[in-house]
Amino acid sequence: MNKSKVPSDIPVGIVGLGLMGSSIAVCMSLAGHPVIGLEPMDGQKEKSRKRIQAHLQTAYNNGLVPNPPSHYLRNIQLASEYENLKDCKIIIESVKEDQNIKFEVFRRVDEVVSPDAIITSNTSAIPISTLQDAVSNPQRFYGLHWMEPAHTTRFLEVICGEKSDLEGGEYLYSLAEFWQKEAVLVRKDIRGFIANRLMYAMYREAMFLVEGEYASVEDVDRACRNVAGFAFPMMGVFRWMDFTGIDSYKKVMDELFPTLSNAKAPGSLITDIVDKGGRGVFNGKGFYEYSEGEKELWEKAYTKFAFEIRDLALQYPHDVVEKMKEEKKSKE
Ligand SMILES: NC(=O)c1ccc[n+]([C@@H]2O[C@H](COP(=O)([O-])OP(=O)(O)OC[C@H]3O[C@@H](n4cnc5c(N)ncnc54)[C@H](O)[C@@H]3O)[C@@H](O)[C@H]2O)c1
Repeated sequence: MNKSKVPSDIPVGIVGLGLMGSSIAVCMSLAGHPVIGLEPMDGQKEKSRKRIQAHLQTAYNNGLVPNPPSHYLRNIQLASEYENLKDCKIIIESVKEDQNIKFEVFRRVDEVVSPDAIITSNTSAIPISTLQDAVSNPQRFYGLHWMEPAHTTRFLEVICGEKSDLEGGEYLYSLAEFWQKEAVLVRKDIRGFIANRLMYAMYREAMFLVEGEYASVEDVDRACRNVAGFAFPMMGVFRWMDFTGIDSYKKVMDELFPTLSNAKAPGSLITDIVDKGGRGVFNGKGFYEYSEGEKELWEKAYTKFAFEIRDLALQYPHDVVEKMKEEKKSKE
């Protein structure tokens, strides 16, 4: 595979400029890619433009980027017609999580892009092996799973479906460095990919603990924030076990695994809330209750936190110790 690794030579098309598509567009523009943002739904383009502008302004205000929004907006062209994607070398689909809608989008993308353009989906849960059948060359189709807001978070999964060429996955993985990501390459498709499998295992256990009245929602959140939340941003799961002694983990696993929840369906805690129309911060009713205006305050606090934790995480990349060794050597 002989593909450019210079972002300015790689036009990227983003289809669907909703919540995620907008922040992905910002991420691509900050990396220096020419961006075509396609918003297929009538009347949505103006909303997307405002969202992109606001992201760039917040990024500038928080010192993430050296230039004001106008500098990066020059790289982003908003469009409504699929034809505008014809020169794009990478397509990132981020439309509503509905298999039929995504299939139709891929069919239309496939009609206009060149046969070797890479096509990707930001699906949260639809298998890549299923979606890749929507295009004529499924070997150049991948999952690219982002975390909102894509221009500040460090997470990105590159997912190969059954028919994807591993080489193209490795190419996207290498580009992720320009996108300021610590990417994860999922070499074989699996439902939920990597991050959601880890997260949902924890969600299931958290709900089991509350449903069994072992602890309150608040206290389970506290345990999570101060154990997983404290150590994992630096170490991850395996490094943490190495760091704290894997022999004792093995012993605990022998005793604890048989007692962990292996529920095959969501239990009463979440089902009761959702059946009564609960949508979390979006309507004030979730595992917690929210008063008027509280959603905006959580958003404000989360935005500030996202910039701060990003700064901290950048000081502790996966190879932090390798870098410390090199530093030590150069001083000797
Ligand atoms: N929001 C997140 O945190 C998050 C994280 C990871 C992945 N995702 C995935 O990203 C994708 C987009 O999610 P979002 O949160 O940005 O959703 P959103 O509702 O904010 O945006 C959806 C987009 O789909 C477009 N759309 C809706 N109906 C369409 C149709 N019939 N044809 C073409 N386009 C249509 C909308 O115009 C909009 O641009 C989903 O697949 C979602 O699962 C979201």
